[in-house]
Amino acid sequence: MKSVAMLADTILDPKGGELGFNRAYGTTGSFFDWLHRPENVYQVQRFYVAMRGTAALESPDAIHKGFNWSGLPAGSVVVDVGGGTGQISLAIAWKNPSLRIVVQDLEDTIKNSKIYGNENLPSHVESRKVESQVHDFYTPQPVCSVIAQDWSEERFVKILRHLRDAAHPTTKLVVIDKILESAAGVPDSGEEAIPGSARPSAPAPLLPDWGVGKASVYYLDVSVSASVRKQEGRSLTVVIDAFLTGWS
Ligand SMILES: C[S@@+](CC[C@H](N)C(=O)[O-])C[C@H]1O[C@@H](n2cnc3c(N)ncnc32)[C@H](O)[C@@H]1O
Repeated sequence: MKSVAMLADTILDPKGGELGFNRAYGTTGSFFDWLHRPENVYQVQRFYVAMRGTAALESPDAIHKGFNWSGLPAGSVVVDVGGGTGQISLAIAWKNPSLRIVVQDLEDTIKNSKIYGNENLPSHVESRKVESQVHDFYTPQPVCSVIAQDWSEERFVKILRHLRDAAHPTTKLVVIDKILESAAGVPDSGEEAIPGSARPSAPAPLLPDWGVGKASVYYLDVSVSASVRKQEGRSLTVVIDAFLTGWS
């Protein structure tokens, strides 16, 4: 809340890469470095309650529709990079018991992820079909593969490079993200950066981006812009960056 209150100030009076969060809390570090400080135990718990809350707003089936998890060979390892408490991983694991899932995140979060896994899918935790692993994604990837969100494009490319370095020829990269729909309407299909990527605009007199009907994606974008990344609106350039980092 405090970070978003500073968003307009940091846009109108920018100082380097300073975010609303930095100005609100008087710190130059990243949001996650601050969140994981020992004195912010309450804030970290609150953050993960919020993450679970926003996940609950999604269609429970969305994760099963975006990628054919059951098409992966039995025994495949799925690594959920920056997987938080692991709610997405558990949903994948529950429907695809032949996969092995590794949730990676920072130390405090992994403690929460273990509790969450034991409470929600103990059978898979016990049989080690779901594991939690401490890993900083700015360092070389110890396993290989999947899932990212939230980072500036420069940082995102760095994460992707580490993943690429650890990948095998059969490794697949799955990026789960929200792409803002344009308030100005959809480009001609001939202008699409990636074929099929444009979503149909809402019919008039509605706003082309469905206005308040899809406002939650904009709200999320505003809060992420205030606290985690500088660019507004994740765009398809991120996906293109993925190709440039060798994931073609
Ligand atoms: C917005 S949350 C997304 C969590 C999960 N992927 C989901 O969609 O529910 C971003 C996650 O990245 C983690 N994270 C931040 N910096 C990280 C780093 N350097 N290495 C690993 N994980 C990190 C955070 O702790 C947090 O759990």
